[in-house]
Amino acid sequence: MPSSPDSLQAGAHWVVLTGAGISADSGLATFRGGGGLWEGHSVEDVATPEAWARDPQTVWRFYQMRRRALLEVEPNAGHYALARLERHLNDVGARCTLVTQNVDDLHQRAGSNVWPMHGELCKLRCERCGHLTEDREHFDFDFVPCPECDFPRLRPHIVWFGEIPMGMGEIEAALQTVTHFLACGTSGAVWPAAGFLHAARQLGARTFVNALERPENLAPQDQFLEGSASEVLPRWVAGWMGEDLPSAP
Ligand code: OAD
Repeated sequence: MPSSPDSLQAGAHWVVLTGAGISADSGLATFRGGGGLWEGHSVEDVATPEAWARDPQTVWRFYQMRRRALLEVEPNAGHYALARLERHLNDVGARCTLVTQNVDDLHQRAGSNVWPMHGELCKLRCERCGHLTEDREHFDFDFVPCPECDFPRLRPHIVWFGEIPMGMGEIEAALQTVTHFLACGTSGAVWPAAGFLHAARQLGARTFVNALERPENLAPQDQFLEGSASEVLPRWVAGWMGEDLPSAP
């Protein structure tokens, strides 16, 4: 179990990066591997601005099914453990920056403040007037018009391949002062997020990685926490907080 007297005190800055693996135990598919979300879908057909321009109906159906799937799932013990870590760090005057590549809203529902760098499924955006709206009401395959300018088709508030991730200025600034870095449930295959672990290491942060298997960007100095996030993270967070067993979220 990790321990360090200064880790949870004022001046410490924890940066946590999560990926699809943390939501796997809630029942949402990861991207890579058998049964992955991209299996049966070409990225070029459903996750690029070109696909949206060429065949918006196919793209919309894909994202409406993912949006609807959010209604069926709940945060798991891994999400709650990270929310608990953040609350504790804030209480002792330390900082916590949680960045996620996930577009589900499970961190938010667990009580975390989060930078969703690849966008958010529960939001839609107008490409004509820029209006951003939270939508938890339209889940069929009809397009949703913009409530502001009547443009007939809002797009998913999602970062597609070829687009720039959201909040990069804030995320890069946070990485400048990182003292502890945890990557959880991400294969380290998609940039720029794949580079955060290396950036944290370069700055001398203690680095931790939780996943089912060793990700591509793991280095010998990273502490690898093998196993499911919903089992590993509650114990790991409890260990940092000097407890033997995690309490219920
Ligand atoms: P991946 O599907 O590439 O990787 C999932 C990672 O989670 C793997 O390292 C698994 O070992 C790990 N994993 C699976 N189940 C887990 C569990 N229960 N507990 C802990 N770890 C588990 O997902 P990401 O790295 O998030 O981008 O993918 C990154 C980006 O690639 C996505 O955000 C998406 C995709 O293309 C865009 O759509 C822009």
